[in-house]
Amino acid sequence: MSVVLTKGYPHSVLDLISPGGAPAIEAADVVKSFGALTALTGVSLSVAPGTLAALLGPNGAGKTTLVRIIATLSRPDSGRVRVLGVDVLAQPARARGLIGLTGQYAGLDEGLTGRDNLVLIGRLAGLRRLAAVDRAAELGAAFGVAHALDRLVRTYSGGMRRRLDVAASLMTRPAVLVLDEPTTGLDPASRRQLWEVIAGLRADGTTMLLTTQYLHEADRFADIVHVLDHGRIIATGTVSELKSRVGRPVVEIRLQHPSAAPAAAAAVRGRLALPPADVRADPASGWLTVAAADDTGTLLAAAAALRADGIAVTGLALREPSLDEAFLALTDGRQGVGERPALAYEAPARGRARRLCRPLGARGGGDRVRP
Ligand SMILES: Nc1ncnc2c1ncn2[C@@H]1O[C@H](COP(=O)(O)OP(=O)(O)OP(=O)(O)O)[C@@H](O)[C@H]1O
Ligand SMILES: [Mg+2]
Repeated sequence: MSVVLTKGYPHSVLDLISPGGAPAIEAADVVKSFGALTALTGVSLSVAPGTLAALLGPNGAGKTTLVRIIATLSRPDSGRVRVLGVDVLAQPARARGLIGLTGQYAGLDEGLTGRDNLVLIGRLAGLRRLAAVDRAAELGAAFGVAHALDRLVRTYSGGMRRRLDVAASLMTRPAVLVLDEPTTGLDPASRRQLWEVIAGLRADGTTMLLTTQYLHEADRFADIVHVLDHGRIIATGTVSELKSRVGRPVVEIRLQHPSAAPAAAAAVRGRLALPPADVRADPASGWLTVAAADDTGTLLAAAAALRADGIAVTGLALREPSLDEAFLALTDGRQGVGERPALAYEAPARGRARRLCRPLGARGGGDRVRP
């Protein structure tokens, strides 16, 4: 898979373009307002060559706004962005040759076949016809849509469209790939398949910046995580660094009767004299979680409290905090992950249409940077 995706990619060029290990993506003090709303209030971040950085943040945090600026589709009010050393504001056309973007909203041409979409995008990005045809077939196979390449995109399922959309962003073998929620809306199998592709790209040295609503994806795949909130970066670090910022481990208790969750939470809060936020109960699943200030001491005391009140449990464990909990703690708990922190955060179904976004230079948005 990885060979197929990056065959012939001149990785040694990276060293020439970005000498001395300079960041592959570098944003400095990026400010962007939409009328009275300041979407980005001075964002700085960098992504090292060949790494995968995740950009996490609640809805409306400014992720897409930042991604579009990096990809030259939107112009910041102030600040600087470099991709492989190229200033995207001063040299947008050159920058576009280095970046592939899969936007949050796919926008394949519904009236064309999958193959024609890929070839068109390749041609718009400057590939010769034969090269575009070859590459389309190669990517179609790599993304598991080879059998459907000659069907109109309007007959594709959502997952197939999404895969074709990511394939389109790879038509020109970009050195830097920006993915805005690439897996949102995909079923678990398609998501896994896409992650295999992303892992293959990373193994081949492609630099990636991706936003995701699935925190466990960042947990598993990201070399570094930037957390964006209210248009500013509030935390940067490896997943384990962010988790350690939350500090305390967590006691997880599974109740025999989920409906006992409120009573169980009250019993534990009362017996351990804990503030309400330290004990979370989910009557739907029957899970109770307790911030473990005293490690096993908290676990034993919580068990004793439930026993004293005659509340039956079927499981009891002490575990490290999850990235979800780190995220909740960092963003003051505004993200709706539900009460059971071990669950990965699932984006609310937004049923949104998707619009296309790449390759850069092929199409663009309203205030796109002019070459
Ligand atoms: N073209 C626009 N015109 C006006 N406001 C905008 C525009 N684009 C974004 N915004 C606003 O800027 C803020 C940041 O939006 P953005 O799309 O970057 O958030 P996001 O982090 O990508 O959110 P989500 O997780 O929902 O995709 C939001 O308040 C949004 O309403
Ligand atoms: Mg977005």
